Amino acid sequence: MNTLHLSDTTEDIKAAAAILRDGGLVAMPTETVYGLAANALDGDAVRRIFEAKGRPMDNPLIVHVAEFSDIRRLGLVAEIPYLARMLAEAFWPGPLTVIMKKGGAIPDEVSAGLDTVAIRIPSHPAAHRLLATSGLALAAPSANTSGKPSPTTAQHVIDDMDGRIEAVLDGGSCSVGVESTVITLVADVPRILRPGIITREELEAVIGPVEVDHAVLHQLENNERASSPGMKYKHYAPRARVILLRGDDAKYITYVNRLYARDQSIGAICYDEDKPLLNAPCITIGSMQDEKAQAQALFDALRAADGLTGVKTVYAHCPAAQGVGMALYNRLIRAAAFEVIDLPKKRIIGLTGQTGAGKSEVSRLLSERGLPVVSADAAARRAVEDSEVKAMLCAAFGDVLREDGSLDRSLVARIAFSSREMTARLNAITHPTIARLMLEEAQALPGDTVIFDASQLFESGEDLFCERIVGVLADAEIRLRRITKRDGISREEAALRMSAQYDERFFLTYCDDILYNNGTEQALSDGVRNLYEGLVRG
Ligand code: TXA
Ligand code: MG
Repeated sequence: MNTLHLSDTTEDIKAAAAILRDGGLVAMPTETVYGLAANALDGDAVRRIFEAKGRPMDNPLIVHVAEFSDIRRLGLVAEIPYLARMLAEAFWPGPLTVIMKKGGAIPDEVSAGLDTVAIRIPSHPAAHRLLATSGLALAAPSANTSGKPSPTTAQHVIDDMDGRIEAVLDGGSCSVGVESTVITLVADVPRILRPGIITREELEAVIGPVEVDHAVLHQLENNERASSPGMKYKHYAPRARVILLRGDDAKYITYVNRLYARDQSIGAICYDEDKPLLNAPCITIGSMQDEKAQAQALFDALRAADGLTGVKTVYAHCPAAQGVGMALYNRLIRAAAFEVIDLPKKRIIGLTGQTGAGKSEVSRLLSERGLPVVSADAAARRAVEDSEVKAMLCAAFGDVLREDGSLDRSLVARIAFSSREMTARLNAITHPTIARLMLEEAQALPGDTVIFDASQLFESGEDLFCERIVGVLADAEIRLRRITKRDGISREEAALRMSAQYDERFFLTYCDDILYNNGTEQALSDGVRNLYEGLVRG
C-alpha cells in the first residue's frame, strides 16, 4: 500500500475524511500524540487498526468525537453520568479520556468485549476538523507499532506505519507529548487508569476524590486483572534496554559516570541540568523544573535512544511520581519493563584495595573514628544463606548443600576457585544479593555516611553507589610477606591470589583517594586521619 502524506489544508482534510468514510485508516495529529484513526462504528475498519499496529485484540480503543452532543447522538454511551458533564465542561476539548458504560452503537472490536467505552474530544485543530468534516466518531489508538514509543511527529508515524495505512495527516509535533489522562467513571470512586498532563489534583478540584489505579505505578502480579488492558503490556520501549535510576540527582550522575568509565555501551536519558555533568552520551528531555517540557520530549527521546551509536543500555533519571511527573514515571517504568535501581539515601564511601595491603586495618581505624562500616565479607556470608542464592549455586555447581540444608562453604570454595570461569559464575550469582544486603544494612545505620568495606567493590558493582572510593595499596613484596604470614600459605599460593586481583594501575585509575601502606603504623594512621578529615569536611 502507498501511504499518502497529507497536510492540514482543507483539501487534504477532505481527502482524509473520504478515506475514513470508506473504511480506511488515517493517522491524525492530536494535542497528545498521533492517533491511528478509523470509523469507530465500522467493526471491519477498526479491526484493521489492530492489524496495522500488531495490537493485542483484548486492548480496547478510545473513541474520539468533535462535540459533546455527538456522544448521545451517535449512541456511544448508555448514559452520560453527571461527573462526565463536569469533566467535559472543565477539560474538553483536551487531553482527557473518560470511560463510561458503552452504548449500543459501539462494536465489540472497539471495546474489546468490555461493557464500557473510552471517549475523548481532542483539542488539536486538525483533529477537530477531521472529525467535523467526516461526521464520524473515530476510534484511534496511538499510531505506533504496538510496544514502541507513541508517535509525537508525522515522521515517527511514517517510521512505524509507512505502507500499512492509507494516509498520514501531518499536523506538526504534538504539544502535550504524552497520551491523555484516562479516568473511569464506572467505579465507586472515579479512578485514573492512565496518568497524563491533566493531573489527579486538577481532576479532584473539579469532581472531588479521585483514586489512582494500582497498575499506574506498579507492576501487575501474574494473577491480577488489569482495569485498563493497555497497562499490562511492556510499552514505549526502544530497542535499547532502559533502566531507571531512582534517587538523589548527584547519585544519579555518580552512578552513570562510574559505569560509563568501564562500559562505553551505556547512555542516558536525563534532564538538561545533568548533561554537562555526564560523560556518557545522553538525550535530554528538558529542564528538571519544567515537567510539561519533559512530557513533550519524552517519546521522541525514547525513539532517539536507538540513534545513540553503540549504546545498548540507557539509564534514565527517574522522575518523582507526582503531578505531571506521574505521567512521565508511568511511561518510563514501562519502557524499562519495571527495571528500577534505587540509589542509596546515605553517602557511601567505598573502601577497597589489594589483598595484603591493609584495607581491614584502615576499616578498623575509620570505624574507631565513628564511621559505621558495612562489611562485604559479612554480607557474603549472609547472602549464601538466602534460599534463592542457594538454589542458584546448586544449579551451577551441583549439590553443594549439607544434609541439614545449609551450604557446604568449603565445597563451594573448592569448586568456585578451581578456575576463573567458575569464580565468575559464583560472583554472578552472589554479587547482586551481597550488594543488596549491604545497601539495606547501610540504610539501617545511624548517620549519613557509611563505609563499604569490600575487596571486590568494583567486581560487584557496589562502586557505582559510592560517592568516593578509597584504595589501599602496598608494594608487592610487602603484601606477599603479609599474606604468607597472615594466612600461613606458601609464597607461590600468595602470589597466585595476588595475580587474580586487579593491578595497581586499575586502582590508581578508578579510586578517588589512594592510601599507601608500605611503612610504619604511624604513617597509616596519619593517612587515615587525613582521609577522615577530608570526608567529614565533605
Ligand atoms: O491521547 C490519547 O489518548 C491518544 C490519542 C490518539 O487520543 N490515544 C491513545 O490510545 O493513547 P491508546 O489506545 O494507545 O491507549 C488507550 C488506553 C489503553 O491503555 C486502553 O487499555 C485504555 O486506554 N482503554 C480504552 N478503553 C478502555 C476501557 N473501556 N476500559 C479501560 N481502559 C480502556
Ligand atoms: Mg498506545
